[in-house]
Amino acid sequence: MRAVVYKGPFEVAVEQVEDPRIQHPSDVIVRVTSTAICGSDLHMYEGRTAAEPGIVFGHENLGVIEETGDGVTSLSRGDRVVMPFNVACGFCKNCTAGYTGFCLTVNPGFAGGAYGYVAMGPFTGGQAEYVRVPYADFNCLKLPEGTEMETDFVLLADIFPTGYHGNELADVRPGESVAVYGGGPVGLMAAYSAMLRGASKVFVVDRVAERLQKAAEIGAVPIDFTAGNAAEQIKEQTAGQGTDKGIDAVGYQAQAQARGEDREEPATVLNSLVETVRPTGALGVPGLYVPSDPGGPDEQARQGMLVVAIGRLFEKGLRMGTGQCNVKRYNRQLRDLIIEGRAKPSFVVSHELPLDQAPTAYEKFDKRVEGYTKVVLHPHA
Ligand SMILES: NC(=O)c1ccc[n+]([C@@H]2O[C@H](COP(=O)([O-])OP(=O)(O)OC[C@H]3O[C@@H](n4cnc5c(N)ncnc54)[C@H](O)[C@@H]3O)[C@@H](O)[C@H]2O)c1
Ligand SMILES: [Zn+2]
Ligand SMILES: [Zn+2]
Repeated sequence: MRAVVYKGPFEVAVEQVEDPRIQHPSDVIVRVTSTAICGSDLHMYEGRTAAEPGIVFGHENLGVIEETGDGVTSLSRGDRVVMPFNVACGFCKNCTAGYTGFCLTVNPGFAGGAYGYVAMGPFTGGQAEYVRVPYADFNCLKLPEGTEMETDFVLLADIFPTGYHGNELADVRPGESVAVYGGGPVGLMAAYSAMLRGASKVFVVDRVAERLQKAAEIGAVPIDFTAGNAAEQIKEQTAGQGTDKGIDAVGYQAQAQARGEDREEPATVLNSLVETVRPTGALGVPGLYVPSDPGGPDEQARQGMLVVAIGRLFEKGLRMGTGQCNVKRYNRQLRDLIIEGRAKPSFVVSHELPLDQAPTAYEKFDKRVEGYTKVVLHPHA
């Protein structure tokens, strides 16, 4: 089959790889109809992780079941399903507590597994014609038959639940104000989820015009960090107090905020959030931080150690939640919001392309040019 293969920094290719096959009675094989490119893929694409060439990318996968293992009970050939980016067993201590992003058995020696991702286990990615899904009864979420709302449902694999998770980590409640740093797909989903949860005022901070435009379209207040200190801009619009809650949807590859500078400053968003959120507030951090970054700007950053204003954080009594999203905790409810017409997350999708165009799509999404906000690939188009 054809698949998107990582060749080295800033290079992916669509190549022939081995077809997946059932390896265990609880597996299914899914014929992938939609698979999205994620900001998390870009960390590997840019050579900013320990990823080695040869990985098949793709953890945001939706498709139709092609084949089921003998032990699969709730799924049949022909079912349309979307899979959390997490691979989880369903029976370990963390899975049974709902922390499926930290499964203890699928990737021995590490808490958490995912498709097509460095350090997340041997699970081949789904930016391909087919993908193998382990523990399929647990990991597949059934969708209505047909092809409707495909670009809404594919976002259930990661970014819609992840944006929602940012709100859960920050404990966003009705009537609160929320500052979201990052207007990429995750940030836009975090802002959208904040509104679904009844937030009164939501800010989205970025510098990419098309992304700030999308934020404004859903009713958020866009903040361009190149136009002046973001925390100050937000405080001016919250009676000088700052927001109740804050979400980091950027992560360690954050751009320095000074005007005209083009360099990374890994802790800048965390430190801005400490300033932006009012005393006793909370921060949700779905933006990714890594324990080792070969391209970090200094020796400490290369070991995942950042200079964060812990003193101010303590002084303000702020609390902070982090980590991979436990997608399964939210995907069923978010699916039902889509089915009932109460949520339409596909407003973030800017491009739908055949698999063969993955190399161009990666390049443009990575440069955040030409309105590339979220790309959905269709392997069988
Ligand atoms: N926790 C999880 O489960 C999970 C899941 C998916 C993605 N992620 C992570 O979430 C982050 C965002 O993902 P994405 O797909 O939206 O990626 P993205 O790279 O498209 O979006 C990041 C956005 O942040 C903006 N940005 C850069 N520096 C900034 C700054 N100083 N202040 C404000 N905005 C700034 C960029 O312009 C960009 O639009 C990534 O780190 C990704 O790895 C985490
Ligand atoms: Zn993703
Ligand atoms: Zn588990």
